[in-house]
Amino acid sequence: MSISSYLTKKFLKSLFFPAHNRGEALPRKLIKLLKISPGFWDLPELPEIGSPLSQNGLIAKSQREFSDKFGAKGCFFGVNGASGLIQSAIIAMANPGDTILMPRNVHISVIKTCAMQNINPIFFDLEFSLETGHYKPITKIWFKNVFEKLNFDENKIAGVIIVSPSYHGYAGDLEHLINFCHQKNLPVLVDEAHGSYFLFCENLDLPKPALSSNADLVVHSLHKSLNGLTQTAVLWYKGNLINERNLIRSINSLQTTSPSSLLLSSCEESIHDWLNKKSLSKYQKRILEAKSIYKKLIKKNIPLIETQDPLKIIVNTSKVGIDGFTADKFFYRNGLIAELPEMMTLTFCLGFANQKDFPNLFEKLWKKLLLKSKKSKSLEVLQSPFKLVQAPEIEIGIAWRSETRNIPFSQSLNKISGDIICPYPPGIPLLVPGERIDIDRFNWINNQSLCNKDLVNFNIGVI
Ligand SMILES: Cc1ncc(COP(=O)(O)O)c(C=O)c1O
Repeated sequence: MSISSYLTKKFLKSLFFPAHNRGEALPRKLIKLLKISPGFWDLPELPEIGSPLSQNGLIAKSQREFSDKFGAKGCFFGVNGASGLIQSAIIAMANPGDTILMPRNVHISVIKTCAMQNINPIFFDLEFSLETGHYKPITKIWFKNVFEKLNFDENKIAGVIIVSPSYHGYAGDLEHLINFCHQKNLPVLVDEAHGSYFLFCENLDLPKPALSSNADLVVHSLHKSLNGLTQTAVLWYKGNLINERNLIRSINSLQTTSPSSLLLSSCEESIHDWLNKKSLSKYQKRILEAKSIYKKLIKKNIPLIETQDPLKIIVNTSKVGIDGFTADKFFYRNGLIAELPEMMTLTFCLGFANQKDFPNLFEKLWKKLLLKSKKSKSLEVLQSPFKLVQAPEIEIGIAWRSETRNIPFSQSLNKISGDIICPYPPGIPLLVPGERIDIDRFNWINNQSLCNKDLVNFNIGVI
């Protein structure tokens, strides 16, 4: 079967990214564009359109209008996902040899940039839930403890990265954390890939958006948490801690010279759509509906986990002795396609289409799953093995470029890794180049792989 034939395959319910739910929730203007003569709209960078870095043209005008609206100094549309713009943001924030403070749940794009640019990550650990196998949001006390452990004389810390909300939708008090960094003159990049829509819903009791919390750099994945096409993203910047010229240069270095006009138009329309009163009230209604879907399922005794993002429905399948991968396969066979299976949980993304039929459909299948599946009593995640503050033993850039020997992971105990180990989704590395695979890390990665053998059934490059 060709890719193009597969793309027309129908599922009973698509509860994964992109959040426009297979076109149902795309902005009306984009739907109109896609309906006209196929490919007619695929234009190059004509002067009237320009590019995200042009001073003039339609793109520059839209970017200016949006950044004025949200009190940012500027913003840039991106066509290589949040990943591409996170990479540009990091390069603008730190020079080779500098250090960035970051949590253990950073996206793999951060690690790859550090490795390529010789930027040294200092990781801080996060509280970890043994019930769900998820990292919890950062509290003020936790963050203060992290800073007390840091040696500012030894490391030239150029900035801080925070992921909020996480893939699952956990979010803490961002404003406090950002203020804390600003008191030390440190710029903050917030990876808000999963929280773009918070910006338009300050009335709905959702986490305060990163831009209103004074982040210096904010990256939104428009296909994950707004109704953009896959690969669309936007980067916002604010304040005086980030050098504008560096930012423009780093975007320029990583951006294609032929950005897709369709994707750029999707960036514009997805933001525009949420600024339109009528569409906004439709989407806000969807968010309220998502909250009521959660309550309905809880009433039906489904073991859901609450996070700060109502669009994520997370079932704690381990509560009934079923791992998330087994549950995922069952739902997949029955046409309900989820986003993220993990050992203890299965995450569905409701997206922005109408999902009123989801609770009944889900309940019916859930009951069937309970009847049909073998239950395990031994589903247990291990506590995460990290120190509160920890840097790789060998600099990440050096380890990344070192000559390595390829050996089975099972023989890698006490070796230093030249590779990244990272399940995708969610794209959060368990091991990065330069880190030692000590016994705690070795056991933890093996435990993480209990329901996902591909994670360790491979050869790892060690130094
Ligand atoms: C927290 C986080 N940041 C960034 C990204 C990258 O987003 P994109 O797929 O738009 O490149 C992801 C993707 O999974 C993510 O989960």
